[in-house]
Amino acid sequence: MNVKTTLTTLCLLIAFVVAFVACNETKTSPKQEASVTADSALNDSAASCDAPSSTRYPNQDKPMALMMRQMADNAQKMKNKLEAGEKIDAGTFPFIRFHLVEPTDPNVLQPQFYENARVFQVAHKALVNAPLEKQKEMYTAYINQCINCHQTYCSGPLKRIRKLVLN
Ligand code: HEC
Repeated sequence: MNVKTTLTTLCLLIAFVVAFVACNETKTSPKQEASVTADSALNDSAASCDAPSSTRYPNQDKPMALMMRQMADNAQKMKNKLEAGEKIDAGTFPFIRFHLVEPTDPNVLQPQFYENARVFQVAHKALVNAPLEKQKEMYTAYINQCINCHQTYCSGPLKRIRKLVLN
């Protein structure tokens, strides 16, 4: 084998390794998602809500927990907007259908949970459809529905949710 062939082989090898690593990286999240849905055996009790699930089972957070985090982030953005005198709109903050996806603890899926979710969705609709001058009031009613459901089903995040109340 001459030097040129050795170099070419080496380059091909490096290219292959790089491509392999890149592909694997892009594949990580769907793979994790698949294991998330398949892993219902790992469910624990309602106490699961006492700590953010990420600290307990890294990468095994259930879809409902992930959506809740998104909802909390969105609520913080809504609060910032309202305090800056800006309007909240349905396009930026669509309703997140958390009640249709798998929770960490399947025991929460009771009639009262779905009723709370329904009332919460009504509050969301009222908020995003309200005129700007009514939105602070509607936002308060919306956050009260987060608190209402959390008092029954998942008290851990209440401290975090109370910080979302308007000052
Ligand atoms: C109908 C009941 C209900 C409503 C309404 C509700 N939640 Fe939740 N929330 C839950 C349940 C149940 C969990 C546990 C989800 C899981 O672990 O799969 C949860 C989990 C959370 C978590 C923890 C997520 C994590 O990291 O594991 C946060 C934060 C949260 N909710 C914030 C909110 C905020 C903010 C609102 C309102 C904008 C809200 N929730 C409305 C029931 C509700």
